[in-house]
Amino acid sequence: MRNDEELAMIQVGPGTPSGEVFRRYWLPVEVSANLGGGSGGRHVGALNPIRVHVLGEHLILFRDSKGAPHLLAEHCAHRGTSLFYGRVEGDTIRCLYHGWLYAGDGSVVEQPGEPEENRFKERVTQPSYPTVEVAGLIFAYMGPAELEPLFPRYHQLFSEDGIRVPGNGGYTEQCNVFQALHDNNMDPWHGEIAHGWFRDPPQVGTMRQAGNGRPATPVTFERTPWGTRMKVIKDQLSKPGSYQYHETHTVWPTQRVNQDNAGSIKWAVPVDDYSTRWITLDFYPFVDGKITEEAQRAIYEQNNPMPSIGLAHDLPKDWAQQVGSYWNYGHPWRQGNIWEDEVAQQTQGPEERHYLPDWEKWHLGKSDEGLIMNRKVWAEQVIRVREGQDPIGIVRASKNGSDDALIRITSDNIGGLSLEEATHFFEMTQEERSAYVAEHPYHTRGRGRAGAAPMT
Ligand code: FES
Ligand SMILES: [Fe+2]
Repeated sequence: MRNDEELAMIQVGPGTPSGEVFRRYWLPVEVSANLGGGSGGRHVGALNPIRVHVLGEHLILFRDSKGAPHLLAEHCAHRGTSLFYGRVEGDTIRCLYHGWLYAGDGSVVEQPGEPEENRFKERVTQPSYPTVEVAGLIFAYMGPAELEPLFPRYHQLFSEDGIRVPGNGGYTEQCNVFQALHDNNMDPWHGEIAHGWFRDPPQVGTMRQAGNGRPATPVTFERTPWGTRMKVIKDQLSKPGSYQYHETHTVWPTQRVNQDNAGSIKWAVPVDDYSTRWITLDFYPFVDGKITEEAQRAIYEQNNPMPSIGLAHDLPKDWAQQVGSYWNYGHPWRQGNIWEDEVAQQTQGPEERHYLPDWEKWHLGKSDEGLIMNRKVWAEQVIRVREGQDPIGIVRASKNGSDDALIRITSDNIGGLSLEEATHFFEMTQEERSAYVAEHPYHTRGRGRAGAAPMT
């Protein structure tokens, strides 16, 4: 991998090849609760704008008098003062410096210092992006207006037979989105090592290279209509003769879907070229028409968050690099899987490269198939976008002018299987698997019911 080619690939800003791919999709930019209440009319407190930093762009979000969110460039089109300090007035926001007043779509409503007859305001616009608020998250489309796609109807966002719990968006990894997601998402081996190491005993050797005298179990990587998937059969070492079927998806441009019943979406949203914010949503289907205890627990934890890296303010910036020396011993800062991922990812390169790796020194092997496939599919999307085509997974209007069908990603963990049963799932094509999930959308009742969730 050549460093200059990789650098060109991992950039996310406007006009960069991959930045333009990201900008063809609806992306979550904030958690609704972080923007405060939805009714307007006052100019203080929850109605103040907030800053969001997405795809290398500095933006602000505010709610109008009807509660609708608006996303504008942060710096005023007049002389650049931050609209973070702007005042929300009804459906508009006023810059504190000279009082230019902007509507939610960025058009200029007033320019107090300009003679009205100049009609200067008709020639100026504050950059803005359309938003959609759904399932407790605010999404934006940051691409060319004429190419805006339909909003994708993922079942986790729209199913009515369960409840959804958004995360707080409080965790930002100090590494590039490819390190955080695309290179990592379909890498079952780091699950065994990086995540397994802190447990006792490390569960190394259940795939491909057999361990403990047990036969190796298979893993494979495939394309899907939305991106890519990894299928794994895991030997449940603690329960001899018992196997788990697992499926992880990479949904373009930047989602990890890897839980039971595809019950969770984790968006790795690029903040800039060197940091990536996790915005997550969990969906809990009703069981017998009722909210499950697991869902109630998730709601409680959302309202009473445990300390996490996202909330901690006393860690040094290079905490992940410092943690390396504690490997094998556990560490008081240890916070779980993403923590371990960041330790591995932030230490792929030195600080002066913003932790970006020296790709020319990498040696990719058979176990890097998932990374290689994701990079290949990504490179294809760069070409598609450059040639004016839609990238993978874009939803356009059907003949009747809409597309109301739910999109069901088919990730799952199904444990307690015989090898024959696990193999049956493993050998399903994506079409067969999608047909199966359409009939049995909540095949696995409750997360972790059968075997531990895989640590990818
Ligand atoms: S800088 Fe915003 S109104 Fe002048
Ligand atoms: Fe991981």
